[in-house]
Amino acid sequence: MNTIIKVIDRLFTKLEINNLGSSHKYRAACLIIEDALRKGSIIPGVTTVIEKTGGNFGFGLIAACHPYGIPVELVVGLGFSQAKRDLLECVGAQLIGKHLLLSGVSPKDVVSVHLENQVQLGKSYYYTDQFNNPIGIDAHRYQTASELACQLIDAGVGNKLLFVGCAGTGASFTGITLGLKEYGFDVSTVLVEPFGCDSKEGLFTDHRFEGMAVGVSPPFLDWSLVDRRSQVEHTEMLTAQGWFHQLTGIYIGYTAAACVSVAQRLISLPEYADTTCITIAYDAGFWYQN
Ligand SMILES: Cc1ncc(COP(=O)(O)O)c(C=O)c1O
Repeated sequence: MNTIIKVIDRLFTKLEINNLGSSHKYRAACLIIEDALRKGSIIPGVTTVIEKTGGNFGFGLIAACHPYGIPVELVVGLGFSQAKRDLLECVGAQLIGKHLLLSGVSPKDVVSVHLENQVQLGKSYYYTDQFNNPIGIDAHRYQTASELACQLIDAGVGNKLLFVGCAGTGASFTGITLGLKEYGFDVSTVLVEPFGCDSKEGLFTDHRFEGMAVGVSPPFLDWSLVDRRSQVEHTEMLTAQGWFHQLTGIYIGYTAAACVSVAQRLISLPEYADTTCITIAYDAGFWYQN
């Protein structure tokens, strides 16, 4: 299901678009929910999960909570499209706090208001808090990376890898890099960012690569694991998205295509002549309208 595909010689992409919730974020969501269930922080039938997201983590959470019948309430920032709101509701989320958002309260503060007033609201909330919950790293270190390592070994690639990834929370970048190194691969990395953004310096421009460079420095990105950084223009990303589709028949999302664009650029450099390049298809492109 989460197979790797050979795009061209020495370039492989791991598909995460077939996860429940349709992205890699299901893995972090699932482990966070399972951990909270184990610790008794979530009691099915009593607890409601609350989170601020309008993106892939929301869809992942709904899928992760579904088997246990745990309700999910989401605070979706006003920047997210109506289509995404409608679909989140369609798959079972309750969208809360719209009046507060409209009056200028931030999504984070909307969550705080709900947590402070949960008794009056008749709720017992568990806040998954993806930007402060490091369990997301483990999901990628012990699941995504270990799957990927076995798939690469099966594919017969050599020991030298170049992982080209991006960061929102940074959990997948850090987890995948650590996990591949633990499998004995000689891994170097490239962090991909939208043109004009510098997540390390906290510099963010308006861009349409939903999921990367999200306006805060990625809390779980271990900068000591980042060997190189590369910026991508929107048009370059679109070109790579089309190229990838032509070669594979798979329509990847914007962040995935941005990484493919950088991988295409680097793979022909002499310094990577004996290296296999890896990217992640974080999600599919159908969401994103040009
Ligand atoms: C499409 C997409 N790509 C990349 C990322 C970055 O993932 P992470 O939070 O693991 O850094 C996200 C996160 O939401 C995403 O939705």
